[in-house]
Amino acid sequence: TTSIVFFVVGAYLIGSVSSAIIVTRLFAIQDIRQQGSGNAGATNVLRVAGKKAAAIVFLFDLLKGAIPVYAGFLFGLAPIALSLVAIAACLGHIFPVFFQFKGGKGVATALGALMPLDWALAGCLFGTWLCVFTIARISSVAAIVTFSLAPIYTYIFEPDYTIAVTLLCLLIIGKHRDNIKRLFSSKEKAKNKS
Ligand code: G3P
Repeated sequence: TTSIVFFVVGAYLIGSVSSAIIVTRLFAIQDIRQQGSGNAGATNVLRVAGKKAAAIVFLFDLLKGAIPVYAGFLFGLAPIALSLVAIAACLGHIFPVFFQFKGGKGVATALGALMPLDWALAGCLFGTWLCVFTIARISSVAAIVTFSLAPIYTYIFEPDYTIAVTLLCLLIIGKHRDNIKRLFSSKEKAKNKS
């Protein structure tokens, strides 16, 4: 139990390192949460600070999920404990203790957290995101569709994780409620139309 607590708390703290806020500060932006969509994530960094900053943020946020889960996997944690580690990393990203509990939506961190569990699952998620983004050109649409399908993919490839992934998806899709409202009122801009 001590090691599970260690991994879960560690994952939450790592997740709480909001790379969007830190990297955009290095690019001389005061607070990314006051600009664009107000979200501390790679998509909004792309909007506000450009490709290079967005690529760094995406990779960093992906690793925040992947590293704790992979470390827990190497340590030999059981699926239920690994699920808690994955959820903790995403909770850190979304509600960062170091940044007034106001972070991102958990897309990159969740993708990273699911990578060490199963490559086929991760491949389906990345593939879905890319396909939807290619067609819709809207990051939030790609995320919402990907995480709506994630419980089904998980049930197929890693059934032990279905409940945890479903909870994670509800959290992530819930964080997209403003995007969903904007989509329904046609106010969410496509990448090539903004
Ligand atoms: O990954 C978050 C993305 O799905 C939406 O971001 O900034 O457009 O709200 P944003």
